[in-house]
Amino acid sequence: MLIIDGCDIMVKLDEEMKTAFSKVKIFPVATASKDGIPNVVPIGFCQLIDDDTIWIVDNFMSKSLANLKENPNVAIYVWGPDTGGCFQIKGKAIVIESGEKFEKMKSIVHTAKPGLPAKTLIEVQISNVFQCAPGPNAGQKLL
Ligand SMILES: Cc1cc2nc3c(=O)[nH]c(=O)nc-3n(C[C@H](O)[C@H](O)[C@H](O)COP(=O)(O)O)c2cc1C
Repeated sequence: MLIIDGCDIMVKLDEEMKTAFSKVKIFPVATASKDGIPNVVPIGFCQLIDDDTIWIVDNFMSKSLANLKENPNVAIYVWGPDTGGCFQIKGKAIVIESGEKFEKMKSIVHTAKPGLPAKTLIEVQISNVFQCAPGPNAGQKLL
């Protein structure tokens, strides 16, 4: 299902994708500078807050956050021993440093791990999903 939200077309993960997402513990989160220099980091606090929206918590980000402030594009792949497949998510990030969503994120983080800084909320609106498993459909657009 396609939803128009501002200028971006958001897509909703299906049930199979959501189940796979829930089984991943550490996500590779890729960003890029405005000049296209890539950066990829492991992220634990990465959760689906809605079918079309991911919340990523900046606890220790440096280059990733700097990239997101100048280039909103994010890519994540979803794979783990229990996912039963692999897919790639692309989206655009909004950097949130205060307000209701920010306070909710802080409360989620501090309930799970009280000592963490929870500096920034990165809200990713999912715009594309691609097949990432090897085989004849590798790279195919799924959503
Ligand atoms: C297993 C693991 C989980 C991590 N989870 C997070 C996280 O949820 N949030 C975060 O900001 N950094 C997390 N980090 C640290 C980042 O991967 C990274 O080191 C940090 O964002 C600085 O990298 P950057 O300058 O490229 O952004 C994690 C690191 C590891 C090894």
